[in-house]
Amino acid sequence: MRKKTVIANWKMNYDFHETTSFIRNFLKFVFERKINHNKEIIIAPSFPFLHISNQILQGTTLNIAAQNIYQKDEGAYTGEVSAPMLKSIGVQKVILGHSERREFFFEKNNVLLEKIKIALKYSFNIIFCVGESSIERSNNQQFEVVKNQLKETVFHCSSDEIKFFHIAYEPVWAIGTGTTATFEQVQTMHEFIRSLFFKKYGENISNKISILYGGSINDFNAKNFFSQKDIDGGLVGKSSLELEKFLKIVES
Ligand code: 13P
Repeated sequence: MRKKTVIANWKMNYDFHETTSFIRNFLKFVFERKINHNKEIIIAPSFPFLHISNQILQGTTLNIAAQNIYQKDEGAYTGEVSAPMLKSIGVQKVILGHSERREFFFEKNNVLLEKIKIALKYSFNIIFCVGESSIERSNNQQFEVVKNQLKETVFHCSSDEIKFFHIAYEPVWAIGTGTTATFEQVQTMHEFIRSLFFKKYGENISNKISILYGGSINDFNAKNFFSQKDIDGGLVGKSSLELEKFLKIVES
């Protein structure tokens, strides 16, 4: 039985005060309302607030994740943040391959593979995002696109390394648009992704790999997504920025 995971991807939102008060209130409400979520919960704030967030979450079951890392250990790369830097403040998880990184920062699969390698070198858990654009979906290319994204990145890893991954299926047309994919569309894609892991790594790994959905998840639709056979949780953007909504999502 795979444990469900809910990840709050805050993207470039929330300053110091907003970040710390959200996390403190979240913990308070989970305790006061005795919310029994039985899920792995991960919050991905912006780089400057990872350290304080981690300190607040010490001794709880919640974790933090970085939203990116640079693909080199160190050096003259102005403005970048390395895996060992993050490791030194206790960060153990990172989101890679998000469509916003692919689109606005031109991260191609070859660069993403370098990022995967450096993240694994420092034993990070990786939440790796894949997903097709609306044009690709209208051309019925979604399966081919996702297959290639995996083939050129994650599938370069060994069976031992795959244990460090969550896969997040995030169709680009459903991100931040309020248009979610249907439960059937997502379940079908997740089943397909699991079948790719089966072919590449065998039954054991394909049964264990956690495949999350992301794209306009909210407090109303989360339960239906999370109850699909191959959907192991969610990567949540907008609705993770509102405390009451996020509490309902983790309870779903
Ligand atoms: P939304 O939930 O705002 O659609 O964002 C999804 C996402 O990109 C999470 O990484």
